[in-house]
Amino acid sequence: MNTTLVVNSKGGSGKTTVTTNLASYFASRDVPTTILDYDPQGSSLAWLQLRGRRGGRVYGANGAHQRGPRIRSIEMHVPADTRQLVIDAPAGASGLLLQEMLSRANCIVIPVAPSPFDIYATANFVKDLLLVGRIRTRSIRLAVVANRVRSTGPVYRPLERFLGSLGLPFLTRISDSEVYVKAAEAGLGVFEMEDAAPEREELTPIVEWITGEPRVVGSAEAKVIGLPQQRWSERARPLLYGTDLNSVTRPG
Ligand SMILES: Nc1ncnc2c1ncn2[C@@H]1O[C@H](COP(=O)(O)OP(=O)(O)OP(=O)(O)O)[C@@H](O)[C@H]1O
Ligand SMILES: [Mg+2]
Repeated sequence: MNTTLVVNSKGGSGKTTVTTNLASYFASRDVPTTILDYDPQGSSLAWLQLRGRRGGRVYGANGAHQRGPRIRSIEMHVPADTRQLVIDAPAGASGLLLQEMLSRANCIVIPVAPSPFDIYATANFVKDLLLVGRIRTRSIRLAVVANRVRSTGPVYRPLERFLGSLGLPFLTRISDSEVYVKAAEAGLGVFEMEDAAPEREELTPIVEWITGEPRVVGSAEAKVIGLPQQRWSERARPLLYGTDLNSVTRPG
C-alpha cells in the first residue's frame, strides 16, 4: 500500500480538494483506494457521502479524535486490499497527531495558497517537517503544489527558491477553477468529469509523482516546474537552521 499524506498547517489551502481528486483518480483506474480523514470537520467523508455509488469506489476511514479510543480504532480501519491510501489532514496539525500521520506516510503533498502569509507559513511548516518530523531520515518523499492560482505572477518565487535549495519539488500549479467546486458538490473528481481537461492536466504531475508512472493522462506537456534537484547540502543548511528562511520567505 502506498500512503499519501496531504497536509499543511494552514487552513483552506486545498488539502481536501487535492485528497478527493487524487482518491477519485485512483478509484477511476480501479485501484482499491481509501481516504483516511483526520479532520474533525470530516469534509472528505462528507464528499464520500455525496459520492454514493457514483464513480469508482473509494472507501472512507475516520481518523479524527472525536470519540473514545475503541470506537476510533474501529472507525479508522483501512481495508486490507487498499493500494492507495490518501490521508486528509486537519489544519494546524502538529505534535503527536502530526507524528501519527507521518508514521503512516510514504509521501507528503503540501498544497499552498497564493497569499504571502500562506507561503511564509508553508515554508516554516516544511522546515518543521524536515527538522521535527525527520522525514528525510524516515525516507518520506515530500512535494509542494500551488493551489488556487489565478495568474502566473512571481508570488511563489521565494517558496520555489527555498524548496529548490533543499532539493524538494514544486510539482504543479492548480488553477482557481469553478470545476473543483462543482466536483466537490457532486462527490466527484476532475478525472471523472467532462469538460475538465485543463484541471486533469494540472493534477497529472501529482499523480505521476506519487505513482512514478509518467503521462497518466493525455499527451499534452507535463506542467512539472523544473527545479535543480540538489541534494541536502551545506548550502541548504543555513536556510534551514538559520535566519535565512526569514529573509527568503517573508512577505513583501
Ligand atoms: N483550485 C481551486 N479552485 C477553486 N476552489 C478551490 C480550489 N481549491 C480549493 N477550493 C475551494 O476552497 C475551499 C477550501 O478548500 P479545501 O477545503 O480543499 O481546503 P482545506 O485545506 O482542506 O481546508 P481546511 O484546512 O479547512 O481543511 C473549498 O471551498 C474549496 O472548494
Ligand atoms: Mg480540509
